[in-house]
Parts: sequence; structure tokens; C-alpha cells
Amino acid sequence: MVRAGSNYGKALDDNNPGDILEKTCNTLRYMAEAGCTGFDCAEKTIGIVKNLDRNLSSAADDLKELRSLIGDCQRCKLCKERTNIVFGTGDPDARLVFVGEGPGYDEDQQGEPFVGKAGQLLTKIIQAINLTREKVYICNIIKCRPPGNRNPAPDEIKTCFPFLEGQLDAIRPDFICALGTFAAQTLLDTVEPISRLRGRFFDLRGIKVMPTYHPAYLLRNSEKKRDVWEDMKKLMSMMDV
Ligand code: URA
Repeated sequence: MVRAGSNYGKALDDNNPGDILEKTCNTLRYMAEAGCTGFDCAEKTIGIVKNLDRNLSSAADDLKELRSLIGDCQRCKLCKERTNIVFGTGDPDARLVFVGEGPGYDEDQQGEPFVGKAGQLLTKIIQAINLTREKVYICNIIKCRPPGNRNPAPDEIKTCFPFLEGQLDAIRPDFICALGTFAAQTLLDTVEPISRLRGRFFDLRGIKVMPTYHPAYLLRNSEKKRDVWEDMKKLMSMMDV
């Protein structure tokens, strides 16, 4: 069940769990519009509420549905030169999602994120925090390779970003590690440099986001690996792994 789109105006059935949830959401939206800014909920209650509709569809199903919605995407000019759409990989129920910038040459060829040299380093970073690629989820801000690995253009990001939001809605991770300037600035809607953002936790719709340096940057600046290790230790401690 992809939560994009709207069912406003539809008759709601009080015996249908999906409709009950929708009614609750509509009530909360109404309260928000009326000026209600929040509830003083315990962490445990928030967790229960967050997962209320999880029994209606699995994260894996939601991701599959989202992937088929993307289809053979022609929504922006990146479709012209890409080989494969690079959607994402890993555990649909992951607590931690790594978000990079966009596919490079190897990723475009193979249709999987972070499989080139930077990807091999990311795999090592993930293993260093006692996890594996299979236990986390890995994706990018944009799903198609910009020609010559140029920076993604604003219209390309704008077109593709809702799909990342859809992935996050499906997975509902507790943590995101934003890899590099581009992912961090896009996710946090800021222009602060990565050197100031890294190692700090930010809130994104209830998800704790921690930016760190991009593995490709580490390949060129190996002295920064120490900083990334400090960031990863903070992440491990926050995640309690
Ligand atoms: N760099 C990224 O940001 N993402 C990839 O998938 C590969 C390299």
C-alpha cells in the first residue's frame, strides 16, 4: 500500500482497518489545520502508532509497488542515457538506510547502488558497524546516472525525490546515514557544508538522520576516514548495536 495519492471524498467503512486508519489521519490533519501542533506521546506509543497500518501491507510489498510505479521512467532527461534504473537494495525492514547521491558508471551498468570502488568502501564501513549490506537498505537521491557523473540538476532531483520519500515511507527506518554533501543537503534542505553537518543527528519526519562523508570522497582523502569512524561510532551507540 503506497501512501501517496488521496482518497478524499470516498465513503469510509468503519469495519475496514485501512479506512479506520484513513479516518484517523483525516481527523489529525483537520486538527493540524485547526492549529494543533502535537501531542506529548511516549516513545513507545509513537512506535505503536507508526506501525498501526503495517499489518495491511509489508514494507517489501510497498517497495515492489513503488518500483513498478516508477516503471521504465521517462519523467526526466536522465532516462535518455541511463542503462538501468538503480532503485535500491537491502532489507525492506531495515532500521538503517544509507542514502547516496546517484548511480555512477558501475551502478548504472548493474542496476544496483554502491557496487563500484566507493561501494566497496561503503560495504567495509557497514561491516565495521557490525552490519551487512543485506541488513541495511541502500539507495540514492536520484535513481538514474547523470551523464559523465555530473551533479544532478534541480529539476531531476525534484522529479525523483518523491520516490526516495516513497522508499522511506515503505521502510520506515529509525536512522538514515546521508552520504556526502549532496545527500545531506537534499535530505535536510540546507546549504550547510558537510564538514559542519557530519556526525550530528537531525530529525526528518521522525527519522534520525546523520550525515557523514561520501565514500568516494574518502577514496580521495583517506585522512577523513578517521572522522567517518567517529561518526559511525556515534551511530552505533545511538542505534544500540
Ligand atoms: N555514489 C553514489 O552516491 N551512489 C552510488 O550508488 C554509487 C556511487
